[in-house]
Amino acid sequence: MEWKAIAEGIWKVTIGVPEAHTPVAWRKFPVQEEALKDMGTAKLPEVAGQITSRQDKRGLQIMLPMDTQEDIYGFGLQFRSLNQAGRKRLLRVNSDPAADTGESHAPVPFYISTAGYGLFADTFRHAEFYMGTSLEKGRSSHRREVNQAHEEFSESALYALKRNAERRTVIIDLKAVEGVDLYLFAGKVKEVVQRYNLFSGGGCLPPMWGLGVWYRSYGGSGQEAVQDMARSFREERMPVDVLGLEPGWHSHSYSCTYQWSDLFPRPEEMIQDLEGQGYKLNLWEHLFVYPAASFYQELLPFSGEYEVWNGLVPDFGTPEARELFADYHREHFVRKKIAGFKLDECDNSDMNASNWSFPDTARFPSGMDGEQMHAAIGGLYQGLVYDMFRGEDRRTYSQVRSSGALAAPLPFVLYSDLYDHKQFIRGMVTSGFSGLLWAPEVRSCRNGRDLLRRMETIMFSAHAIYNCWRIPNPPWKQVDITKNLAGEFMEDTGYYTDVCRRYHEIRMSLLPYLYSAFVRYRREGIPPVRALVMDYEEDLQARNVDDEYLLGDSLLVAPMTLEDGTERRVYLPAGKWHDFWNGTVLEGGKSYEITADYDKIPVYVRDGCILPLAEPVEYVSRDTVFQIHPRIYGDVREECTLYEDDFETFAFERGKFNRISLGVDAEGKLRVERSGGERERCRIVV
Ligand code: GAL
Repeated sequence: MEWKAIAEGIWKVTIGVPEAHTPVAWRKFPVQEEALKDMGTAKLPEVAGQITSRQDKRGLQIMLPMDTQEDIYGFGLQFRSLNQAGRKRLLRVNSDPAADTGESHAPVPFYISTAGYGLFADTFRHAEFYMGTSLEKGRSSHRREVNQAHEEFSESALYALKRNAERRTVIIDLKAVEGVDLYLFAGKVKEVVQRYNLFSGGGCLPPMWGLGVWYRSYGGSGQEAVQDMARSFREERMPVDVLGLEPGWHSHSYSCTYQWSDLFPRPEEMIQDLEGQGYKLNLWEHLFVYPAASFYQELLPFSGEYEVWNGLVPDFGTPEARELFADYHREHFVRKKIAGFKLDECDNSDMNASNWSFPDTARFPSGMDGEQMHAAIGGLYQGLVYDMFRGEDRRTYSQVRSSGALAAPLPFVLYSDLYDHKQFIRGMVTSGFSGLLWAPEVRSCRNGRDLLRRMETIMFSAHAIYNCWRIPNPPWKQVDITKNLAGEFMEDTGYYTDVCRRYHEIRMSLLPYLYSAFVRYRREGIPPVRALVMDYEEDLQARNVDDEYLLGDSLLVAPMTLEDGTERRVYLPAGKWHDFWNGTVLEGGKSYEITADYDKIPVYVRDGCILPLAEPVEYVSRDTVFQIHPRIYGDVREECTLYEDDFETFAFERGKFNRISLGVDAEGKLRVERSGGERERCRIVV
């Protein structure tokens, strides 16, 4: 196999004749070659010389060796497992996978091995990856252990992956293809992730307001109710930046008209009112176009063979469908101050008892078939929306239900209602390996305590969002859906409102810190939310932690769920850690049984850093200047870098930003250095 270097630390090989429609063929963003060079040189991973392939009637199979101690991560958003060693992954878009099959809203044919490499198979097909579940015959022929006592009689013990066994094989099974391009990325886990993200085009940089608090309102609310609620948040001093409207704003949804319904008789007046109060407005939609939509007829020839919920499936692989959709949205929404869209249900799985899907056999005018389109559609849809905003020199931060390969530059966060809180947390941990962001939305809560636990998690995530599409009143007033609908409030609503407000404020104080974490995502490919193994790969215990994560450079978050009660085990990697709330110093490299009341989420600060906390503002405006109070933790070893720009356009790409370095001088006093000639947006208060 002839591996060709395509950028520093990345190689490619072509096996057979690859398909025309693949993630790379459809890529939007250029490889970040300079940033890859800045990472330094790397050697072609050894595994490159050990890969074999074979082609037969069922398709193409690729084989690689796998050592017994190798740990495997990636494959996109995964809810049910973190370490994929010893598992088979089926990479097909499925909106509600019931078991740990590998299927998800955002499967990605990319994995990272602790053997020092990452591998990406450039395909939209339902690829299957056997990650060391298979041993070639003969590998166990030396075994002679007999009459050994069984430690445990259970299915899981008997079936378990026998870790200390012989060398195993990775098999990549690509059915019905005649070829594929493989890409190899060199390095440690974090470097491989960085290289993959830079290959994808670098991570996204949301506008600052996108990192504030989001609130999606009740689907049945009309214009007045939305405006009243917006006012009540301001009256209650509840920081919120973005309001979202749910399906009720369409004159018909499922499928969509993209026209205001009778519930919103004067949308422009509402948009203006909300803008005046400092809100950004985000609109729910999906891409299935209802016959009453104004561009339905024109779209007919540029849509797929089958309908979804009586609507057309636009083929975003054709320029005509993209233009029809984008022109309409630009004129009616983007230029009318809408700040983003929630791209729902593009994870349409064909495993539902519903006509919410198109079959894999469907044909599309671009030449894609339904199988490819299922994997491509989320990315194409995001790309189209991104372009609309980019054309206006505005950044968006939005939501999407399906994504896939090379998505890091797309400023969209994945979400779904269907998982429990632990799975939400794991989703955050796993998505970061493949250039994806996951939102642990606050939605249904079983009681007030559940609300607090979920709310705390979102505030320390990439997307602080309440999804209240089923309740007309905020959850801090009533968590029970029936009572909320009836307008009955909880007795202790004052308490819940206060705790939520406190956390909204904490979120706002983290904004400049989070923004700078996203700048690193953009420039260096370092994800803002990371599994512990990314920063602590040598620590074998950290490798399997799936319920804690690193947020930005300095924070370790260990969220708690209702089921945890007030106790959980927290693993802290080597080094010292400072409790975010009370400063207590804990020695890492071990686990602690910790106790935290329902209004406290366990968060730890890495020793030796500076945390730039801002005074909370209620929302981010063009004029916001953050007042930053740097907190110093231990003997500072790492500088803290903040970035300031206009926080909302693409001017930063044209060099219009400042860099602020915070460090400590010989006497232990804070040292602030600013470079760049842009307006001050972060004032350092010493
Ligand atoms: C769901 C989506 C929810 C909400 C709902 C509205 O599919 O996940 O967040 O938007 O549709 O109908």
